[in-house]
Amino acid sequence: MSLLEVRELQTYFDTRRGVVKAVDGISFTLESGKGLGIVGESGSGKSQTAMSIIQLFQHNQRIAGGSIMFDGRQISDYTDSQLEAIRGNEISIIFQEPMSSLNPVFTVSKQLCEVLITHQNMSSEDAKAKAYEMLKAVKIDQPERVLKSYPHQLSGGMSQRVMIAMALSCNPKLLIADEPTTALDVIIQAEILKLMNELKEKLNTAILFITHDLGVVSKMVDNVVVMHGGKIVESAPVKVLFKSAKHPYTKRLIAAFLKTDIRRANEGETLDFFEAENDQYDFQQFRDRGVADDDFYQVSAGHMIACRLKKK
Ligand SMILES: Nc1ncnc2c1ncn2[C@@H]1O[C@H](COP(=O)(O)OP(=O)(O)OP(=O)(O)O)[C@@H](O)[C@H]1O
Ligand SMILES: [Mg+2]
Repeated sequence: MSLLEVRELQTYFDTRRGVVKAVDGISFTLESGKGLGIVGESGSGKSQTAMSIIQLFQHNQRIAGGSIMFDGRQISDYTDSQLEAIRGNEISIIFQEPMSSLNPVFTVSKQLCEVLITHQNMSSEDAKAKAYEMLKAVKIDQPERVLKSYPHQLSGGMSQRVMIAMALSCNPKLLIADEPTTALDVIIQAEILKLMNELKEKLNTAILFITHDLGVVSKMVDNVVVMHGGKIVESAPVKVLFKSAKHPYTKRLIAAFLKTDIRRANEGETLDFFEAENDQYDFQQFRDRGVADDDFYQVSAGHMIACRLKKK
């Protein structure tokens, strides 16, 4: 049994202009201790997929279909109070902007301790000791000073470390990281990613890693799903995706990424994003309307592409 099994998930917003299908029938699984990346352009539904798992919803948002199984429980049916017991405990989430998640009026110590006291029933003394330990685990140099600091007294990289410490302080089975390093400079970003990888190994935490940066995803996860318009267009082990992506959208995404890379394709070379089409499947709907198909073709173990299956 997988730690996380998302099946045909649909998350809709009811707006005055009608229904917005932010997540439109996606399925994926994530095993304990493994990393799964969700990539795709802005607005493709990555964050709303993450929010759906713990149902941190806006007032006009709802799960319209499908199911989410977590550790053997169907959490998509859970009430808010049942979810409350899971959030920040069995499932933690880190956002792009640490400042929006840390409370500006409380010290780091107070915020870290509160998590431990509420979720782990620790005494305040034990919580203080654990908070110190966690800051050391995320390689903060002067934990005593940082514990006494307020969020605005920390640099961006430092606050992101505090966020990671907070997210991991309850040993979650699943850590959802939504663009956790986008706001940081590249050197700090590399350090934070390395740290997350170390902690994932050490604590056997599964990570759902959301990013639009293919470079980041290649370092962080075992498998990747590529989203477009609320649907999954391709999913594969990370190495397979980079070596033999098939869906035109994935190819375009990779080509756009490589252009800023030294492994740039020959100047003037025209890329045929649809070259994978064959007598078994095509991408006609995507070509004509830019909408991904709901059928999938399995290219190899764990490698699926959304396409129209041709009848023999
Ligand atoms: N409050 C809302 N009302 C209506 N639609 C919304 C609302 N919030 C988000 N959406 C829609 O949900 C879709 C998916 O948004 P989501 O935030 O998941 O994108 P994303 O892939 O995380 O993008 P980004 O890379 O910019 O973070 C978008 O089309 C967006 O317009
Ligand atoms: Mg997002």
